[in-house]
Amino acid sequence: MIKVGIIGGSGYTGAETARMVCTHPEMELVTMTSRRQAGIKVSKTHPFLKGFVDLRFDQALSENSDIDLAFLATPHGASMDHVPSLLERGIKVVDLSGDYRLNMPREYRQWYGIDHRDVVNLNKAVYGMPELFHDAITSAQLVANPGCYPTCAVLATAPLFANGLVEGKLIVDAKSGTSGAGVEPTQITHHPTCAASVTPYKVGQHRHTPEIRQALETVGQGEVDVVFTPHLVPIVRGILSTCYMTLNEKMDHESLYEVYEDFYKKSPFIRVNGTPNIASVSGSNFCEIGFELAGERNLVVMATIDNLTKGGAGQAVQNANIMFGLDQSTGLKFPGLGV
Ligand SMILES: NC(=O)c1ccc[n+]([C@@H]2O[C@H](COP(=O)([O-])OP(=O)(O)OC[C@H]3O[C@@H](n4cnc5c(N)ncnc54)[C@H](OP(=O)(O)O)[C@@H]3O)[C@@H](O)[C@H]2O)c1
Repeated sequence: MIKVGIIGGSGYTGAETARMVCTHPEMELVTMTSRRQAGIKVSKTHPFLKGFVDLRFDQALSENSDIDLAFLATPHGASMDHVPSLLERGIKVVDLSGDYRLNMPREYRQWYGIDHRDVVNLNKAVYGMPELFHDAITSAQLVANPGCYPTCAVLATAPLFANGLVEGKLIVDAKSGTSGAGVEPTQITHHPTCAASVTPYKVGQHRHTPEIRQALETVGQGEVDVVFTPHLVPIVRGILSTCYMTLNEKMDHESLYEVYEDFYKKSPFIRVNGTPNIASVSGSNFCEIGFELAGERNLVVMATIDNLTKGGAGQAVQNANIMFGLDQSTGLKFPGLGV
């Protein structure tokens, strides 16, 4: 069994990771940390884990803790304080934060507002989107798990950029549930503020913008100019991204469908079908993609994921499966909720 530790276990993605790991046939959850809830039973903080996780939160990962794999469900800026020592101990790491996603320290400084303190390992990190970078993940010791919005937008559009079928401008209009903002309430995620409203935020400034661009430029054949507008909508889980592009040449629906089917033929968590729906993927590791032509060359691609699962913990476990030579869907084969 792969012995697993989760750092940041009291938060949303930490809890979601525990939900995946506690029933995983090849993983054993041996420690979860929380600085503020150290000593408290995990199942007291996360009652849905009662009967599945019989641990108390540890203050921190002890130097002697015997683990093979660490999931860092910690904020950006914190992960890079934990990664160097974990790697030195030979532990494989999947970091759910943004600390190791952008290749350039300069770009990290620009979008995250702090200097990168672990450039050596930044250069070794593999961007963990299995549908695009599966082979690189197999030999990685450190995987940068993609952000939730980039997962949705990049999976929606990568087949088009990889095959050179669209012009270099991508407009992403995205809606997310409030769990994307983490366990600590803020003014915009406070229930009375958001429960009956829809709010755009960080327009033109969201730090997932360069991540979307970087991933698409890596699989594609040129520069991609990304305009990304996120919105907070009154649901808890889920992201819907509506992506607008211009085809280089006129194509019909059937040819586009074949492009997607071929690109994702080895990707068990991609479903290309009619109109994507958040409820279909909620609680699951699936990404649903659909598209429509709106005029001769205007293409609208829609995609949905659960931000905590495919956009966070599920994808993290999928990456870990690949890092340990398991089938990528081990422990993740369950459908979404549907309603
Ligand atoms: N929410 C999502 O949908 C989503 C999706 C994809 C990726 N992510 C990313 O995943 C990470 C976690 O997100 P989240 O939404 O789960 O956040 P969260 O709910 O706020 O949880 C963060 C956790 O990290 C712990 N923590 C904070 N600072 C720490 C430090 N310096 N050292 C160790 N532990 C620390 C906190 O507990 P204590 O303070 O008690 O230690 C808490 O358990 C973030 O980087 C986020 O951007 C989130």
